[in-house]
Amino acid sequence: MLKANELSKSYKEVKALSGISLKVKKGELYGLLGPNGAGKSTCINILSSLIKPDSGEVFYDGKSLSDNRKYCRQILGVVPQEIALYEDLSAFENLMFWGKLYGIKGKALETKIDELLKMLGLFDRRKHKVKTYSGGMKRRINIAAALLHDPEIVFMDEPTVGIDPQSRNLIFEVIEQLHAKGLTMIYTTHYMEEAERLCDRIGIIDEGKIFREGTLAELRKASSIKEEIKLKFSNPEKNELIDLKEKHEQNLIVNEHQLVLSSNQSDVDLPLLIQGCLASHLKIENISISNVNLESIFLELTGKSLRD
Ligand SMILES: Nc1ncnc2c1ncn2[C@@H]1O[C@H](COP(=O)(O)OP(=O)(O)OP(=O)(O)O)[C@@H](O)[C@H]1O
Ligand SMILES: [Mg+2]
Repeated sequence: MLKANELSKSYKEVKALSGISLKVKKGELYGLLGPNGAGKSTCINILSSLIKPDSGEVFYDGKSLSDNRKYCRQILGVVPQEIALYEDLSAFENLMFWGKLYGIKGKALETKIDELLKMLGLFDRRKHKVKTYSGGMKRRINIAAALLHDPEIVFMDEPTVGIDPQSRNLIFEVIEQLHAKGLTMIYTTHYMEEAERLCDRIGIIDEGKIFREGTLAELRKASSIKEEIKLKFSNPEKNELIDLKEKHEQNLIVNEHQLVLSSNQSDVDLPLLIQGCLASHLKIENISISNVNLESIFLELTGKSLRD
């Protein structure tokens, strides 16, 4: 089990982490969900011993990870937020380089590289220089690099940001395969859909603190919001949507063609909302009611929205 006690870290006046504690069980996929600047990378970098906290400690199976670099290198794999590859080398050569750093050599290394390149859908392009790759392909090599030495825990810091949908789906599939094999993983994201799809447990992080954690079902249960009412319009007028938002204050999220009302009494709220829409001459195209999602839970806990 990975265990972190009261991790804190400041950069001059910026408090990046303020006392984060968490536990991740063997085989668990733990997600840190939070917006830009929440402290996700700082947390991952401390958990994986890349940087030192100002206070607090990280343990793996009861063993402290501080000042134990060799042990950390052996058991941890990290997919950093910033891609680190040699552009003039091929995927294969980059992975040979990383493998040797981990002390793997010869046929064993080549076999492992081939296996990972196949798993990540890059085998056919393995001899091409990295500079000819798309962002998503580079990200997949970064993932392969973190898996070369068969680590026990893998940290992935927003591995799907800024990449094409095809690479994104492939990365999801790979993560699901690794999870099924029992690898312990810590995954950061600011996309609620990813946290909902992939993670066994989710920590909601903002301003260096974990506001709440649990399975999706537990987070939903603990939320005072139970449901989300979504209305889509065929003639959305911005001013009219904004008028509606003012009437419902914080609980209403307005997008371009739709609005989402967080509710714990949809039987009462829905008729009122429809009346409001009719009075504003908004034409309703579609109505749906679903379980509360992580975006609304995040808003409820932090008073902020996950995305800008
Ligand atoms: N090396 C650094 N020097 C100064 N400030 C830093 C440094 N690293 C992080 N910070 C600050 O600490 C806070 C947390 O940053 P962190 O990178 O951990 O957030 P994040 O959740 O990973 O954000 P993002 O989604 O943008 O990657 C931010 O306010 C950031 O500006
Ligand atoms: Mg980050």
